[in-house]
Amino acid sequence: MSNEKIWLSSPHMGGKEQEFINEAFKQNWVAPLGPNVNGFEEDIKKYLFNDSSPSGGGREGDSGEVVALSSGTAALHLALIQLGVERGDEVLCQSMTFAASANPIVYLGAIPVFIDSEEETLNICPEELERAIEDRIAKGKKPKAIIAVHLYGTPYKVDEVNQVASTYGIPVIEDSAEALGSSYKGQKCGSFGEFSILSFNGNKIITTSGGGALVTKNQKAKERTIFLATQARDAAPHYQHSEIGYNYRLSNVSAGIGRGQMLVLDDRVAARRAMHEFYVDLFNDIEGVEVHSVPDNDYFSNHWLSVIRVNEKQTGGINREKLRLFLEENNIESRPLWKPMHMQPVFKDSPYYGKGVAEALFENGLCLPSGSNLSDKDRDRISRAVMECFKK
Ligand SMILES: Cc1ncc(COP(=O)(O)O)c(C=O)c1O
Repeated sequence: MSNEKIWLSSPHMGGKEQEFINEAFKQNWVAPLGPNVNGFEEDIKKYLFNDSSPSGGGREGDSGEVVALSSGTAALHLALIQLGVERGDEVLCQSMTFAASANPIVYLGAIPVFIDSEEETLNICPEELERAIEDRIAKGKKPKAIIAVHLYGTPYKVDEVNQVASTYGIPVIEDSAEALGSSYKGQKCGSFGEFSILSFNGNKIITTSGGGALVTKNQKAKERTIFLATQARDAAPHYQHSEIGYNYRLSNVSAGIGRGQMLVLDDRVAARRAMHEFYVDLFNDIEGVEVHSVPDNDYFSNHWLSVIRVNEKQTGGINREKLRLFLEENNIESRPLWKPMHMQPVFKDSPYYGKGVAEALFENGLCLPSGSNLSDKDRDRISRAVMECFKK
């Protein structure tokens, strides 16, 4: 069919995934543990901390451990628990993100305090973050953690955020769900936080169909994470529990998909970055549309999703919604940027610190098809549809 749907971001298998799955079946490791789980964790650890791929590896002296889990959301939940977040505590969280960044705060009965974005990376604004911390402390409560997100693969301002965090002694949870393959000053995203999370959901740069990982600073935190993720079983021959646990481990079958996907991660990053370049060229001559790019060479983005900002006043009346609907008519999926959490009905009572940057991004930002499996024919269709829309 010539008019098949062009998706925003769909799974892209490399070919070897099935072999790892077959191995799991052959050895009867059809369980939430086994050789693929261990192997997948090792593959990610090597990638994050001593890899020589184009986006750089770990800084000397940096190290960490990886625990494969059933989702990125589960990883965030276990990070918050290990930072001691409890009922009534406050946790600072980037407002412009997917709800999964904030939901686990509420699972624990804690209160999310949302922070605006800055214009350069679209991520948590260090100035607003500091203003919020001072105000929350003045109101009598020091926040327990900061959740910062590398949105759409663009690293947040790591040095500035870390500077604020260390000034006030508040740990950072790095939400790197969208940023495997990105780096900042040569160090991989997923290796910066006190805890860092990754997602392998179906739409991510690599997938295990569903899955995630928690990156910890050391072996002790890894063991604690596994303990909590496997129903908090005490060391006893019978089933004994002194704490509440969770069933959050990744299946050995899913981890097999992940092992196959790790073999092609660098290719996937290169293909997504090429999609970003394609949009830079496409919109070069269209006034009023800006393709979001990194601020400077300190930032290396996997460009998980390519993002544009549409300025209606300069385009002659085309806004992001008109473009989105026009693409939809052509069976091309695009989406507004994440609707900020402080604008969501479910979080309407949560405190928010900001100056309207995230609101404006939501108003005029659009994510365009960015999959690593898009063909020249797909790009041609996107290009023709965009040109037609702006000619009108
Ligand atoms: C920014 C962000 N955080 C967290 C998550 C949660 O990951 P998962 O879907 O694996 O639970 C996602 C993706 O779904 C995400 O985009």
